[in-house]
Amino acid sequence: MYILGMESSCDETSAAVVRAKDGRLEILSNIVASQIETHRLYGGVVPEIASRAHIEAVTGITREALEGAGISLCDVGAVAVTAFPGLIGALLVGVNFAKSLAFANHIPLVAVNHIKAHVAAAYLSCEALKPPFLAVVVSGGHTSIYDVRDPIDFEEIGATRDDAAGEAFDKIGRVIGLPYPGGAALDKLAYEGDAHAIKLPSPALGKDTLDFSFSGLKTAALNYINHCNQQQLEVPRADLAASYTEAIVAGVAAKAEQALLQTGRKTLVLAGGVAANSHLRRRLESVCAAHGVSMCVPPLSLCGDNGAMVAAAGYFEYEAGHFAATDLNASAQDPANWRV
Ligand code: KG4
Ligand code: ZN
Repeated sequence: MYILGMESSCDETSAAVVRAKDGRLEILSNIVASQIETHRLYGGVVPEIASRAHIEAVTGITREALEGAGISLCDVGAVAVTAFPGLIGALLVGVNFAKSLAFANHIPLVAVNHIKAHVAAAYLSCEALKPPFLAVVVSGGHTSIYDVRDPIDFEEIGATRDDAAGEAFDKIGRVIGLPYPGGAALDKLAYEGDAHAIKLPSPALGKDTLDFSFSGLKTAALNYINHCNQQQLEVPRADLAASYTEAIVAGVAAKAEQALLQTGRKTLVLAGGVAANSHLRRRLESVCAAHGVSMCVPPLSLCGDNGAMVAAAGYFEYEAGHFAATDLNASAQDPANWRV
């Protein structure tokens, strides 16, 4: 069976074809049209511009995905589309396009939760992966820990109470003059600095919770930068990048370790755009090694937003018989019960 996956929740328009055969998922094409260059001028994603750019890209990249997979629309067994959470205007472009395509061609339509899709990217790269496992999802809009009981049954056991890890990286990256999005640039710059040079608060909250808070860390870093500016001192960018990264990495690793001990799970999946962070990947690898836990992190191409992860998540919803109808709507927030 071929699943066409469509993603447009933020600043990437993507379409992909994934083949499901004997329970195995294989990527046949995964076309991503990134809008990063367009939004860079503004230092962040401008929702209205994002929606327009999705409209311009969506037809072409869908055609490319089908051609790349060597199939035509009549071979597609399901169209899977990210319906939530995300920027509402951006989501609506993908949802309406997928709805039209599915109903005009009599193809079943499946609505996908973007966060579950990030986790589903792991099935595409770790063939032996099977629930139950813990999933640490770190992205531009989310930072959460899930106990994954089966591919569509997730329990959120920890979450940020304010900003997401990716937002925190991007904000400080912007303030110290790195190009948008700051996460990848900070990752590199952190190698040049001293991770213990600047004392910053941890985003990991107390021992009785698996929650995070990144706003205090962000404010402390901004105060440090303001202090340097007031004193007419040059901001030690590399030391700040290293210390800030260390605070985020240590905080996420601490809660991941606590969650592993609390649940006794023996597999950990790291997913979402910030899973591309090399420091975080290494730290979690050593946490997992210390506890005899196996770890699955998708390759960089599957960490950021992409259609293949949506197709993978859509396959599991399809298997569960969760189909969407013509009244499918997009939603900016996660629906409370995780069901479509
Ligand atoms: O998952 P994603 O593509 O979009 C959302 O669903 O939010 O994540 C984008 C985020 C951005 O904040 C970006 O700065 C961050 O992922 N990111 C990184 C790295 N690469 C991307 N953050 C830290 N280190 C990286 N290497
Ligand atoms: Zn994402």
